[in-house]
Parts: sequence; C-alpha cells; structure tokens
Amino acid sequence: MSQRVYIFDTTLRDGEQVPGCQLTTEEKVVVAKELERLGVDIIEAGFPVSSPGDFRSVVEIAKAVSKPTVCALSRAKLDDIDAAGEALKHAKHGRIHTGIGSSDIHIRNKFNSTRNQILEQAISAVKHARNYVDDVEFYAEDAGRADLDFLCRLTEAVIRAGATVVNIPDTTGYCLPDEYGRKIKYIYDNVPNVDKATISIHCHNDLGLATANSLAGIMNGARQVEVTMNGIGERAGNTSLEEVVMALKVHKELGYETGIDTTRLFPVSNLVSQMMRMPVQANKAIVGRNAFAHSSGIHQDGFLKHAENYEIINPHDVGVPKSSIILTARSGRHALKHRLELLGYRYDKPTLDGIYKRFLDLADVKKEVNDKDLMELVR
Ligand code: KIV
Ligand code: ZN
Repeated sequence: MSQRVYIFDTTLRDGEQVPGCQLTTEEKVVVAKELERLGVDIIEAGFPVSSPGDFRSVVEIAKAVSKPTVCALSRAKLDDIDAAGEALKHAKHGRIHTGIGSSDIHIRNKFNSTRNQILEQAISAVKHARNYVDDVEFYAEDAGRADLDFLCRLTEAVIRAGATVVNIPDTTGYCLPDEYGRKIKYIYDNVPNVDKATISIHCHNDLGLATANSLAGIMNGARQVEVTMNGIGERAGNTSLEEVVMALKVHKELGYETGIDTTRLFPVSNLVSQMMRMPVQANKAIVGRNAFAHSSGIHQDGFLKHAENYEIINPHDVGVPKSSIILTARSGRHALKHRLELLGYRYDKPTLDGIYKRFLDLADVKKEVNDKDLMELVR
C-alpha cells in the first residue's frame, strides 16, 4: 500500500513574491482553478494582511475552488491572523499558515527576541488562529539552521496549542539532503505528540538542492511537501512541484503517491510561465523545452531503436505532446533518415550518404537544421 504525500502548492504566495511575477486577482483565480484541476491538495492563495489586493485574491480563490484546502499566510501577529481568518470566510476548507523564526540567527537578528519569547508568541498565534479555522499550519521559519532541540520544543508546543500541520522550512536553502532528512527524523523521534500533526517540508533552492532535500524529508516521514510550479520563488526558487511529483511516480518502489494528474503538468507549467512572465529554462527537468529533446547522434540512434534507452518518462505522462529529435552537426545518419522519412523522403544508402555530407556542412553553419532546410537540401 502506497503512502499518500500531500501537495501544498505555494505558486500564488511564495512564487508570486518574485519581482515581476505579480498577478491580478483574476489571473490568480485562473491559476488556482488549474491547480485544482491538476489535483493539488492545498493552495496557498496569498498573504492577506500584506495588501488589499492580496486579501481580495484569497477571498476570490476561496470562492472559486472547492476541492483543495485554501490556505492564507500570516506572521505570528494577531492582526495578520485576523486578516487571514477574515479572507478565508468563504473557503470550503480553510487553513491559516502562521509562524515565526526558529533559528537563533532569526531570533536574534530579525526579532531581537529570545527562544522563550518566540515559544510564547508561537503558542498564542496558533491558539488565536484556531478561533477562525480548525486547520492551522505553523511554520518554524529558518528551521534549516535552527537548533534541533529548540525546534522539537517549538513543534511540541504548537501541536499542543492546536497546530494540525507543522512546517519545517529550509528558508535559506542551506541544508544538504542527508542533514535535512535527519532533521525530520529527529523531530519524529523526539517530539512526543508528533503523531497528532502532519510534518510538512518547504525547501528553497539556493544550493540547487530543493528537490533532493524535499525527497529526503519525505523519506524520513514528512507527509506534506510545499512546492511551486516550475520552482519559481524567492531568490533561486522553491522546490518544483513537477520534479517531486515525477520523482515519486518514477520511483514507485519507494511506495509514495500523490493526487496529481501528471498529464496536466506541462500545460500548467506553460500557463504559469506565461502569466508570470517567467520563462522556463530550456533544460529544466520535466517541463523544459529540451526535457524530451534528443540532440547527439549516439542518443538519437539509441532513442530511435527504443525510447526507453534514453527516456525514463513517457512525455505523454506529463502532457508533453511528443519527444523530439533536434538535427544538429552532432546528429547521425539514423536521425537524418528518420526525419526525412517523416517528411516523406526515402533514399537508398549511397544517396543518403551524399545527403548526410551536405547536411553536416549546413549544420556546421546553421546550428539547428529544421524541416524547411531539409527540404531545400534534398531538392
Ligand atoms: O521559506 C519560508 O520559510 C517561507 C515561510 C513563510 C513558510 O516561505
Ligand atoms: Zn518559502
């Protein structure tokens, strides 16, 4: 029996914080509906106290979707929590996500506070949030650099105060996968009431390790993972939804499942990229332009013999229409012959050898040879 991992999407909150990625309320509703169709379990819709526009977006998203839980962010401040609670009034399933810094670096430099004061503030924030909703998530900001025993005390205290989910974020993308995995395990082993809440993971990609860290968190017991489409987010971004979901799907032997309809990944990735004016890098895993494109001769030959030789995912499974073979100076005869046949041209070997020589001359100057070039070449 597979274990269910809950997908918490924060594209519209942590993702939307990126300069230039801001969306109108109407655009956010469009994205939220697509996320619902994709099958995410929780949509973090915004940070209501931050602006009237963000407040309105949370209200409208709460009205527009029915299946996923709609979550609103707040700091551990009563006014923030009131705004989040108010914005979620129309949500079928509403969650307040409140929290505060947990590392000594944050406690000292950001809050000018002490561990004990942070504990008190966390407890009263969770209790206050419970006046609005039954589902309260607490985030221990910068948990990646926090003292582990303090993190356990904080986790135990907020669960006792009524938190249903505790988020252990690697806010600065500092941790290594082993280290982050051990942190999650330590919390499971040392917080006596841990089974009363879901442990959530939220990783940033400053060292390019967000996906690896999230998988380590899941393998050590976390059952909610916080992600964004295309990995957009502060600085180097957040964990990519599509990467975690496909890693769990490809590695069935790990025994985890999500509720994501993976055939919607590519269309939703495109929608988010276009609406947020944030291009997806060509070699981005799963959804990048080159994720299913084969360009070197050895790979093209192997792929044409059997797709499984060079593809671990069927492109249809993620909504990509088909794999592609890019004809460049690195391509071999097999790829050229295949492309020509798709265009309706069949040649005997000596003729194909002649065309191949001329193809290489052209590819050396053109970098990528397209169908129009090929037709001119054979004419
Ligand atoms: O990275 C982080 O710590 C956050 C929290 C607000 C959850 O985004
Ligand atoms: Zn974050």
